[in-house]
Amino acid sequence: MKNLNGKIALVTGNSRGIGPLISVALANEGAIIVGVARSEKGLKETQEKIKAEGGTCYSIPWDLTDTSSFRNLISRVRETVGEIDILVNNAGIEAYSEFENYQKEDIDSIIDLNLKAPMELARLTLGTMKERGGHIVNIASLAGKKGVPYNNIYSASKAGLIMWTDGLRQDLHGTKVNVSVICPGFVSEAGMYHDAGVKPPFLLGSSKAAKVAQAVLKAIKKNKAQIIVNQGPMKPLLALDQISPTFGDRVVRLFGVPKISKKRLKK
Ligand SMILES: NC(=O)c1ccc[n+]([C@@H]2O[C@H](COP(=O)([O-])OP(=O)(O)OC[C@H]3O[C@@H](n4cnc5c(N)ncnc54)[C@H](OP(=O)(O)O)[C@@H]3O)[C@@H](O)[C@H]2O)c1
Repeated sequence: MKNLNGKIALVTGNSRGIGPLISVALANEGAIIVGVARSEKGLKETQEKIKAEGGTCYSIPWDLTDTSSFRNLISRVRETVGEIDILVNNAGIEAYSEFENYQKEDIDSIIDLNLKAPMELARLTLGTMKERGGHIVNIASLAGKKGVPYNNIYSASKAGLIMWTDGLRQDLHGTKVNVSVICPGFVSEAGMYHDAGVKPPFLLGSSKAAKVAQAVLKAIKKNKAQIIVNQGPMKPLLALDQISPTFGDRVVRLFGVPKISKKRLKK
């Protein structure tokens, strides 16, 4: 999709973190934003910011773990502004814990929000997108490429999101709908990692949140299958990890990732 002007973009997680930056970037290209998250206050702040820059943004407060309610959500979007052209599945949560200390609710909420919600939103919008054309962007993580110690439910959800995107892209070959996945590493300046206040590993570094927003634009405009947003070359290391996961584990330890994860364990 080369021209985003007038396109309707549903952006989940639009109340804080990386989502508002994605919305602003899309709105600057002329897209009409429909922001979804639970916090009305956060959604309103993003909406005001976009309006102040001359863009258009609507907000629909919704709990996206309740996937059975999404028909109503899509109806609300349709009544409010029209059919969705661009779906950005950005809302996500993580939780650090030793595995036996997780609650069942942790497993359910992480999988529901990070994996089932993107699938269900896509399922309900693909019919009209196939007729009109569209693009789905899933915000995954490098944590879906290599398991993260003490945050492995999150890793599983993001690995699922990456592989679902991979299969769906092949389903959609030859249709008017494209799908991309973005895999950021540690993100600075906004978002869940920034809010945790933990320094990124020296050897891995971090990327500015605005880079994720730029990656979303690039994915849509150039129809990219996958974009990794990270300082330094990650693809050769990921390839080596495919050959030997235990070698990958050693690299992850060398980078100091388990130490950082331990600092974030639930007390
Ligand atoms: N930050 C990073 O370092 C990083 C790295 C790699 C990937 N990512 C991915 O980037 C995406 C955005 O993350 P972020 O860092 O911006 O996270 P964040 O700052 O924690 O924001 C998460 C967003 O998701 C929304 N959300 C959470 N639970 C929800 C629910 N039940 N229903 C509806 N919305 C809900 C939040 O809004 P409410 O609380 O108002 O509902 C918020 O808008 C996520 O998918 C994350 O996995 C982030």
